[in-house]
Amino acid sequence: MDKPKVVLGVSGGIAAYKACELLRRFTESGHDVRVVPTASALHFVGAATWSALSGNPVATEVWDDVHEVPHVRIGQQADLVVVAPATADLLAKAAHGLAGDLLTNTLLTARCPVVFAPAMHTEMWEHPATQENVATLRRRGAVVVEPAVGRLTGVDTGKGRLPDPAEIFEVCRRVLARGSAAPDLEGRHVVVSAGGTREPLDPVRFLGNRSSGKQGYALARTAAARGARVTLVAANTGLPDPAGVDVVRVGTAVQLREAVLKAAADADAVVMAAAVADFRPAAYAAGKIKKKDGQEPAPIVLVRNPDVLAEISADRARPGQVIVGFAAETDDVLANGRAKLARKGCDLLVVNEVGERKTFGAEESEAVVLGADGSETPVPYGPKEDLADTVWDLVVRRLG
Ligand code: CTP
Repeated sequence: MDKPKVVLGVSGGIAAYKACELLRRFTESGHDVRVVPTASALHFVGAATWSALSGNPVATEVWDDVHEVPHVRIGQQADLVVVAPATADLLAKAAHGLAGDLLTNTLLTARCPVVFAPAMHTEMWEHPATQENVATLRRRGAVVVEPAVGRLTGVDTGKGRLPDPAEIFEVCRRVLARGSAAPDLEGRHVVVSAGGTREPLDPVRFLGNRSSGKQGYALARTAAARGARVTLVAANTGLPDPAGVDVVRVGTAVQLREAVLKAAADADAVVMAAAVADFRPAAYAAGKIKKKDGQEPAPIVLVRNPDVLAEISADRARPGQVIVGFAAETDDVLANGRAKLARKGCDLLVVNEVGERKTFGAEESEAVVLGADGSETPVPYGPKEDLADTVWDLVVRRLG
């Protein structure tokens, strides 16, 4: 099979050096990458670096190798174009269809999926001109990844950082896997909860569970690659932030409820992949609980936590909002799943059978997605991202 052809556009921002890492990830995983930097990008990273790392020639203008008509061919032959970093200037040129150099020509001739990973100062990102350009590009079907928040060039911090190259790569991998499928969550806001809550007993101990957060992160990542604005409510996960995703960190079930309700207010869909503790200790000891010689430990009294999934399903923040729950079952998986779906009042319930290799901490899983309309969608054993994409397919169908 031919290697997938990727065009890596690089525009002139300091984050250009991070595109070297992105390029390596593509080449090491069997992609044929053609780097098309702008002339300004070469102020930051030279053509020799791009050429050596990609193993392909590098040009910025349409005047090199004119007999090969590169201004048309490179875009036409690509399976994916990703621009990282995309500066405010590049986004403006792309939105307005300017074609002054090889990269902007390539963007006009490409008929494959296009991903932009912007990086700039916060003021430039927030400027209405940039925001309108981003909206235009998204409306036309491009995936524009939200910049990350953090340290910017110089002394400033804020929104505008290029997301981690490994995470941009994950977005591109998902977009490539979907081929020419349109980013069908474009314009949608989705909320995903992930991880496992911890209910503190004292300053050093908690009641927790074994959820790793991987399924929730896969849902967030795949939704971003399908064009959604994603809020990820993450409970005690040690995973890197997915590119373009707004991450809200929480600890307990009560904090998770608050964060989910807030984010769900304007959401088109909410997916509750987090393992939320059903109970919490009735009392929190402000000092560490000490053992006492000759005495048995005091029993731990538990109280019920709010059921977030049942609450948001019963009282939808918006008409037509689609709500998805998860259930891990050991016996009578489908019957228990059906009963739980009815009890919770959600639209879809992903039922996992708990077992070795499956579910907790694993990279793969197997599930059946039950619909309130009686539908049953089996998802064979495979990457958690495949299950995530099936969930989004079912959500998209319900969003209409
Ligand atoms: N959930 C929630 N709030 C809780 C508990 C669970 O929102 N307090 C959500 C989870 O995010 C998940 C689903 O509900 O989407 C799981 O349901 P749950 O009743 O917790 O399943 P089990 O713990 O398996 O229930 P049971 O012990 O009754 O089988």
